[in-house]
Amino acid sequence: MKNSKIAGIGYYVPDKIYTNDDLSKFMDTSDEWITERTGIKERRFAEKHKETSSTMGTRAAQMAIDNAGINKEDIDFIVFATLSADYYFPGAGVLLQRQLGITHLEAPALDIRNQCSGFVYGLSVADQYIKTGKYKNILLVGAEMHSMGMDFTTNGRSVSVIFGDGAGAVVLQPTEEEGRGILTTHIHSNGTHAEELAMINPGSHGGVWLGTEKFGYPDAEEMGGVFVTQKMLDDGLLAPNMTGQLVFKTAVKKFPEVINAALYEVGLTSKDISLFIPHQANLRISQFVQKLLKLEDSQVYNNIQKYGNTTAASIPIALYEAFEEGKIKDGDLICLAAFGSGFTWGSALIRW
Ligand code: ACO
Repeated sequence: MKNSKIAGIGYYVPDKIYTNDDLSKFMDTSDEWITERTGIKERRFAEKHKETSSTMGTRAAQMAIDNAGINKEDIDFIVFATLSADYYFPGAGVLLQRQLGITHLEAPALDIRNQCSGFVYGLSVADQYIKTGKYKNILLVGAEMHSMGMDFTTNGRSVSVIFGDGAGAVVLQPTEEEGRGILTTHIHSNGTHAEELAMINPGSHGGVWLGTEKFGYPDAEEMGGVFVTQKMLDDGLLAPNMTGQLVFKTAVKKFPEVINAALYEVGLTSKDISLFIPHQANLRISQFVQKLLKLEDSQVYNNIQKYGNTTAASIPIALYEAFEEGKIKDGDLICLAAFGSGFTWGSALIRW
């Protein structure tokens, strides 16, 4: 079986920059609080009603296709990871296909809902299809427009200061070279804490039973029967919630675990990692993981300071920037890893 390699990378971030001071105009927060706890200094927000997750994804995808030196007509499988799809359904994959102008090819489009781990999950799925020889040019996209669905009042500040908008994409192809490309991927999930980092409305539970007490449904019976109720809107229940400290504690345990499992499988150690690109969840999480894995600063890439947490887009955006900055060279061992809502987590080791 042939390994898959990343043949092209693309990214897109909106022009409009919001600094921490800008956010403090909408809510009670400060540059000091955000910087100290998350490392984030600024993020990008897309232009409302002009951009969506799929339009940003399409821009990143076109760049990845150009950088891979192929034509968009060569794409035989689309995988789109996002938690902020344009529509409730269908997923963003078919919208991207239409925007790229390749609907006539009728290639499959798969939508991935694994939030912060979406890109690593997508990579793992795409890798299996390349290995079996089923597809030869897979377009994997991660894109998010968080700004449309967050609570920018003081009530939502513990979540809304963390996230930003953007998109990243890669083209995956089989490689002829032995020992190159994606060496291994590992993905996991544990739904015990599904609601602790979540946006549970709108949903088919209709407000009736899931987490009724914890998430403060005022009158479950009255709310039942429809996805979105006026009461959900009035009570601000259409925004994400996060139990930050539980996320932090679990993330710093699962990141090293899944990275070490990957390293063990291929007979390497963290010393062999040329560059670790973690999902850009929170700079403090990345620093903690770096310490646990005993990695030097030069072995870790972070850009959350500029973009905030862009969920499924964060790894491909960082990968693009690291590559452009000359931090990824032929033969390097690149380690990607993510942890997020679900909880879901995963890792990938790539011999570049
Ligand atoms: N600005 C100012 N004050 C704030 C803000 C804000 N943006 N948000 C919360 N606060 C206040 C709280 O109201 C609270 O005030 P109180 O003591 O008067 O009640 C105080 O700050 C402390 O709140 P905590 O939630 O306990 O703050 P904590 O130190 O845990 O930091 C944080 C919160 C940054 C979310 C932290 O828990 C964390 O880093 N968690 C990891 C989660 C994470 O990074 N998720 C990323 C997304 S998920 C993913 O990608 C994996």
